Amino acid sequence: MNKFLMILVLLIPATAFSAPVTEKYVPLPTPIAIEEGRVLYQENGCPMCHGDHGRGDGPLASGLSNKPRNFRDYDEMKRMPTIRMEQAIHKGLTGTAMPAFDQFSDSQIEALTGYIRSFLVDSYAYLKMCAYQTYVVDTGDLKGNFTVEADQPDKFDVKVVGKKIYFSGKNWPELLNQKVHRTYFRVMSEDRIRSLISVQVQRCDKDLVNLLKTK
Ligand code: HEC
Repeated sequence: MNKFLMILVLLIPATAFSAPVTEKYVPLPTPIAIEEGRVLYQENGCPMCHGDHGRGDGPLASGLSNKPRNFRDYDEMKRMPTIRMEQAIHKGLTGTAMPAFDQFSDSQIEALTGYIRSFLVDSYAYLKMCAYQTYVVDTGDLKGNFTVEADQPDKFDVKVVGKKIYFSGKNWPELLNQKVHRTYFRVMSEDRIRSLISVQVQRCDKDLVNLLKTK
């Protein structure tokens, strides 16, 4: 057992494990603005390889040995870091047909990566969460009915109460065994991903020890 878990065991009465300790409130991320990115994408030949709708089926794609991926594929795109997309556009990808577009400004590259994400989702966010927290996401003015799906329902609970989504570890002390744990949940309506939330779950060792001391 590592030192941190030892301290925990000494500090926490068994009942403290039953409920997450704190809540953290965030609004649903705002929808991606796509107009500038759409124009840049169309006017710079991206569809030649990536396709008009981002499916990786442009007219040049079939002749390539490294095919462009489908930007609408959930499993491929949820893990795609924004920084990887930005660098691919700015510097190209060596050994593939992906050319460098070093003429674009940072804000144009941001517009393009946003547009590429929008093939799959309306909005996207990275959240950092401490293992013992419950994230409360306020869906605010999101219209109509929605459902929420967690990628790891065995490890995470997701509950909808009115306009609010509660996201937390099922058995949060278990999450402390890992330094960082990445997981995802989706807010869906009408078969479309309204929001994809990429959650980085951290142990937050020091905060937790302090919280427990002051209890
Ligand atoms: C000549 C074909 C071609 C053109 C034109 C092209 N791409 Fe690509 N692009 C590729 C290929 C092939 C890959 C996949 C490389 C890999 O991951 O193996 C790629 C990868 C990418 C990636 C990284 C994500 C990934 O799949 O790894 C982004 C982002 C991207 N392209 C954006 C663009 C944008 C934006 C434009 C237009 C400004 C563009 N591409 C134009 C062929 C092209």
